[in-house]
Amino acid sequence: MNKNIKRIVKKKNKSKIICLTAYSKNIALEVDKFADITLVGDSLGSVLYNYNSTRSVTLQEMINHSKSVRLAVKKSLMVVDMPYNTYNTNNSALKNAKKIIKETKCDAVKLEGGKKIIKQIKHLIKNKINVMGHLGLLPQTTKGKFKSKGKTIKEKKQLLNDALMLQKCGVFAIVLECVKSATTKQITETLKIPTIGIGSSVYCDGQVLVTDDLIGLNETKIKFVKKFVNIKKYLNLGLRKFASDVRLKKYPKKKHSY
Ligand code: KIV
Repeated sequence: MNKNIKRIVKKKNKSKIICLTAYSKNIALEVDKFADITLVGDSLGSVLYNYNSTRSVTLQEMINHSKSVRLAVKKSLMVVDMPYNTYNTNNSALKNAKKIIKETKCDAVKLEGGKKIIKQIKHLIKNKINVMGHLGLLPQTTKGKFKSKGKTIKEKKQLLNDALMLQKCGVFAIVLECVKSATTKQITETLKIPTIGIGSSVYCDGQVLVTDDLIGLNETKIKFVKKFVNIKKYLNLGLRKFASDVRLKKYPKKKHSY
């Protein structure tokens, strides 16, 4: 197990794990200062490309963005989402995970699902690929509206079983998306590996958010998003000043010119 991964697993029950998304070098440079895990999430499909779902994200798009992120990530663990349809079989999962790792030099990949993809996850881990799990709401397979998971006893049991199955396979952490608090608490207390929540309450061992959402660059009404800063305000200020200075011929000055 990679040193960074060991460090993250050891944080369970000690200190919260910080996970943030980055899709490019300049954001990754700042994210890396605060995050234990920098995630190149396939959420980039909706955030950057306006796709209706993450299903449209291609392997090449994930690789291109990840290469940019890799330029800035020095300290945190870099995890890359495997896009939809790239891990349908053991062979395709391994071939595509190897391609992602070879081209982006990331530390681990993340796959969505439990029992249904357990063979592929086992196969990746057997081949020394570090895997992060993702349970609860699965954007790659969810059709329609985002709904919470783990409400009924049946759903709760199934989520717990999936989480235990992933742990047994050797995943180092599991993202829990939109999972009810009581179910999250039970899963987190049962597992030895950390849970990273998104819309899944304070009971997780860590939290993840899409950076563009929390800095207010991407407008969203998703319940679990908190806008920690309104970066658009500052962006607007700078751009307005540039436009005004150019119009007033205050910029460029002699010192800016060759
Ligand atoms: O795609 C993504 O950004 C994610 C996180 C939000 C968990 O999977």
